[in-house]
Amino acid sequence: MNGQTQVVELNAPSMKARITIGANATKERLPLLTAGQVNFVLTDCNVYALHQDFFEEYFKNTEIYVLPAGEEYKTFQSLENILLAMTKAGLLRTSKLFAVGGGVVGDIGGLAASLYMRGIACVQVPTTLLAQVDSGVGGKTAVDLGGVKNIVGAFYQPQEVIVDSRFLSTLPAREIKCGMGEIVKYAALDGAFFDELSANTERLGSLEFLSGLIAESIRLKAGVVERDEKETGERKCLNVGHTTGHAIELSHGFSHGEGVLYGMLLETQIALLLGVCEKEYGEKLIKIVQSAIAVAPYQKPDFSSIAVDAEKAKADKKNTQSGLITLAVAKAKNEWTTVSLSFERYVRMLLEGIKALGL
Ligand code: GLY
Repeated sequence: MNGQTQVVELNAPSMKARITIGANATKERLPLLTAGQVNFVLTDCNVYALHQDFFEEYFKNTEIYVLPAGEEYKTFQSLENILLAMTKAGLLRTSKLFAVGGGVVGDIGGLAASLYMRGIACVQVPTTLLAQVDSGVGGKTAVDLGGVKNIVGAFYQPQEVIVDSRFLSTLPAREIKCGMGEIVKYAALDGAFFDELSANTERLGSLEFLSGLIAESIRLKAGVVERDEKETGERKCLNVGHTTGHAIELSHGFSHGEGVLYGMLLETQIALLLGVCEKEYGEKLIKIVQSAIAVAPYQKPDFSSIAVDAEKAKADKKNTQSGLITLAVAKAKNEWTTVSLSFERYVRMLLEGIKALGL
């Protein structure tokens, strides 16, 4: 991301969303969006503490709701508390909810905006690399329930997304790695992106390098969402590695991005073992993912419990037939596909994949 502001128009069937990307994105858009109305800000305690100058500058007289940080707060209880605070703040149908934070704030904030008075405008201000390249864009909103991630939610496009690099400088190394999970995903979908990452595996931990990929990641995602907003087909490609990723994430307390990296590793290996993925391409993709995992090494998941962890995949939203687990996997350059396996076969393939990868 450089100083030059870029604008991506996401023309989804339900609504047009303007995405402004750049080092001056907040300065250019927020004064216009906040003017003349009673609004509401949702953020979390980490973002609030780190960016007090930002809240002071743009939201001085606005009700700010500060959620505790973490996926464990993406619940109905938090949603109810937020909606109650919105009611007390006297919001109108013309008010806007500004979701300033990472994936949790964006998901629950978008859902609150979709519900309040049957829908008020939502402006997403993603502050993590992961939220900037993925969850802040595309209108997926959700809370978790019964140990299942994002099982309750709505497709609700934000009116605007403000992607500003000012937030990235405070991210810890682990957060940058989390964002990489979603950035690497685009390499499985787009040939030019794949070549770029393949040629730069040693730069995957560099925020400067990754920042240069943000606008292109958003463009790729916006194109997919325009063609398949409600995920009836093509949008499933944005879930490459996510079935196994979610299972690992929930069972091991990993962040979403870390789960997705291991999920991509295992699901690409499964696609290779099944002969679904072209060999040379799949091996190169695995190398990219392994390089991403090697940045800011965090504890490796304990794969001895994978058969138990895998149970979570039964509730995956890509599954279309009871008893079958559907994975979105890389196939060849610019090509992806879905494979559906019985649960028992999925577990067997995971075990084979773990062995083949030496995990
Ligand atoms: N995060 C995947 C999607 O938005 O479809």
